[in-house]
Amino acid sequence: IQSETPASLITIFGATGDLAKRKLYPSLYHLFTKGQLAEHFAVIGVGRRPWNNDTLRAHVKDSVLSSIPEAKNVEEFISRFYYQANDVSDSSSYIQLKELAKDLDEKYSLQGNRIFYLAMAPEFFGTIAEHLKQDGLTDTTGFHRLVIEKPFGHDLESAKELNKRIRNVFDENDIYRIDHYLGKEMVQNIEVIRFANAIFEPLWNNRFISNIQVTSSEVLGVEERGGYYENSGALRDMVQNHMLQMVALLAMEPPIRLTPQEIRSEKVKVLRALKPMKDEEVENYFVRGQYGPSNNPEKPALGYREETNVQPESNTATFVAGKLMIDNFRWAGVPFYIRTGKRMSTKSTKIIIQFKDVPMNLYYNSDEKLAPNLLVIHIQPEEGITLHLNAKNTGHSMETKPVKLNFSTNDIAGYNTPEAYEKLLHDCLRGDATNFTHWDEVALSWNFVDKISRVWEENKAEFPNYPAGTMGPVEADQLLEKDGFHWWSVTNDEN
Ligand code: BG6
Repeated sequence: IQSETPASLITIFGATGDLAKRKLYPSLYHLFTKGQLAEHFAVIGVGRRPWNNDTLRAHVKDSVLSSIPEAKNVEEFISRFYYQANDVSDSSSYIQLKELAKDLDEKYSLQGNRIFYLAMAPEFFGTIAEHLKQDGLTDTTGFHRLVIEKPFGHDLESAKELNKRIRNVFDENDIYRIDHYLGKEMVQNIEVIRFANAIFEPLWNNRFISNIQVTSSEVLGVEERGGYYENSGALRDMVQNHMLQMVALLAMEPPIRLTPQEIRSEKVKVLRALKPMKDEEVENYFVRGQYGPSNNPEKPALGYREETNVQPESNTATFVAGKLMIDNFRWAGVPFYIRTGKRMSTKSTKIIIQFKDVPMNLYYNSDEKLAPNLLVIHIQPEEGITLHLNAKNTGHSMETKPVKLNFSTNDIAGYNTPEAYEKLLHDCLRGDATNFTHWDEVALSWNFVDKISRVWEENKAEFPNYPAGTMGPVEADQLLEKDGFHWWSVTNDEN
């Protein structure tokens, strides 16, 4: 892993698309202004539209200014952008692309280093990768890295198929599979909180933790993505990747050192230890939901089945809650509850670690239980950590009261964390694959999720089963109640 960003040519397939516009250009611009892009860099935007360099540059400028209105030196930044119209399945376009790459390499001394970012629909990943090899774009002397977005397949079978095609061209070490949650400041912080403090790790196991809750709730519905979402649903869209990645980081053993290999191999072990479910167990461990119309007149919202490009009888789940058990020495018996969905009442990603109760309550209302200690990791929108403790109420009696120790990254300096993409791009440029998903993780996650989708496909659900603007169906609450727990609130001012 290099500390300085090396020279490189970044080729973005899908340069006219939404991801490039919303995320990639502003992120590259940030890296550029912070001096985190090498002086030697150039970008080729590849797309189907008949644009030229000027059209692309104007587009990039627009995208940068709409996300960072005060941006300076934009002209200098966009002067490094070049456009190449391309038909992804036509060799002659790749041959032209190769020529352009060669010219830019000479012009900017790029040392043959190439990053190929596929910011487009996954059905093209295999074809593009094959052409890159076949048409000689990976023949240069420098590094060749492939960056791809999810979805990586639709299930284990299709993911394997895709992986095979890509691996014919790129080494596993050169494939950067983006999971943008791994670029989030507080997701990266999970590991630091655990392994850079003496006070948590001794308690981080089934002797002291009663359960862990990971919630990622969204207020928005499926917006314009009905077509994609119909085929994915919350399980493939969020659980297979983001949710399981967070669980892996929470549950993994300390790596022997901070290399991508060591960290990923610890995460892989967690995914391997996920307790498999029998078909008939799936319904006990996993709850699905689909939002119906809102029943709050102040916040009207359509039901999922009324959204654009969604079937009127759709059986797609827009909500999933589940109980994961990790069958290893550290975690045996500790449920990891996960919950994610669209059109819930609040946008929030939080991890709540609930510790076991003290052996008895010595204080005041001793027939009641003391509030348990909670460690809350606020992933978004606010970022921070809260530790819930019991302390003495001021005064003569020995009453207790709950208190919170709070750390918020926003409080420190009005500091706005860099977008996940910016960090991930920077990592990829420096050859650091730690925060990207290794194939083994992808495969194990699919394996786990496939089982659930298969059982669900066989037994249709009674949908819709939660009104837009709520925290999901009652079954999601019952899932915890059966175990004597409840979901801790994830609204900002409560936890
Ligand atoms: C994406 C999903 O991966 O993550 C979207 O495809 C979802 O459906 C998004 O809205 C949530 O990301 P974030 O960063 O807003 O929590």
